[in-house]
Amino acid sequence: MVKIVFIGYMGSGKTSVAKIVAEKLQIKLLELDQIIEENEKASITNIFESKGEVYFRKKEHLLFKSFMESSESFVMSTGGGTPCYADNHLFLKGENVVSVYLKASIDELIKRLKEETAQRPLLRQYKDGELKEFVAKHLFDRSHFYHQAHKIIMTDSKTPEDIADEVLRLV
Ligand code: S3P
Repeated sequence: MVKIVFIGYMGSGKTSVAKIVAEKLQIKLLELDQIIEENEKASITNIFESKGEVYFRKKEHLLFKSFMESSESFVMSTGGGTPCYADNHLFLKGENVVSVYLKASIDELIKRLKEETAQRPLLRQYKDGELKEFVAKHLFDRSHFYHQAHKIIMTDSKTPEDIADEVLRLV
């Protein structure tokens, strides 16, 4: 049994890389945000708007915990905040778990996120310079949790395929 768990800030490429790794290893792919949306029958944005972030974090924790405690093998892409709440980071060190932090620089994250803030409830209020300031601080606050991962892969100027190949050499 193996659980490969990708963590990292919004826009770090978790979803694309997890998909390639799951295909190559022929293991089930779990996209935590998508599973929450299916469970709640609402988009992440709607959940944040109608029920609030605390409700979202509770759902996220319960689902993450149930997968991490299961005996299934999978490749999972988490949400950017998953390891930072409710002691979820403790699961990153579990037996049979390979946790991978996809680490991108602030400039790279901004490049990827600046056109997508509307779909991201935590970023939608920030424009240009403000966005960079928020992301830099937010990333700093979360960094301790992201660094709990077994492996750290720097992602700047790499394609999702390059990163997936690096992951496959590690597992
Ligand atoms: C969040 C990241 C999002 C999603 C939610 C909260 C965060 O996932 O879970 O909007 O706290 O960083 P992605 O990292 O897949 O965008």
